[in-house]
Amino acid sequence: MAKISLTVNGRAVTANVDPRTLLVQFLREQLRLTGSHVGCDTSQCGACVVHLDGKAVKSCTTLAVMADGHEVVTIEGLAPNGAALHPMQQAFYEHHGLQCGYCTPGMIMTAVDLVQRKGHELSEQTIRDELEGNLCRCTGYQNIVMAIAAGAKAMAPRGAA
Ligand code: FES
Ligand code: FES
Repeated sequence: MAKISLTVNGRAVTANVDPRTLLVQFLREQLRLTGSHVGCDTSQCGACVVHLDGKAVKSCTTLAVMADGHEVVTIEGLAPNGAALHPMQQAFYEHHGLQCGYCTPGMIMTAVDLVQRKGHELSEQTIRDELEGNLCRCTGYQNIVMAIAAGAKAMAPRGAA
């Protein structure tokens, strides 16, 4: 077993894990943070995306021990303890950016990372290119793309152009 210490959604966590444990397993099974989903286990669908030190990663192909000493944010961390929805979550809600919802946590975590890297004015092409690693079986993507464009704008600091 390996001892790991990390921050998850702002909370310090120390745990013993089998070194083979995937980060998504650790989050879901040990911490009971089940918002991160497993759709493929082979790094293709993006349902498992979380942020590791602020960057989107696929937690199905990240070992829990790789998060030792680092900061993890999951979908639960975007609006903790009944806080208002994060602007990107609100945009998915308003633009019907989901149907079954299975892909949605990963889509939103990818989208927030995208805004952090590329800003608040995102073209449709940029959004579609950046969603290459996130698969949705339900929506046809159009509403997801609209939601991300709106969410990106809504994440801009108040008063920004
Ligand atoms: Fe991680 Fe599909 S479960 S990419
Ligand atoms: Fe069902 Fe995307 S909303 S997989």
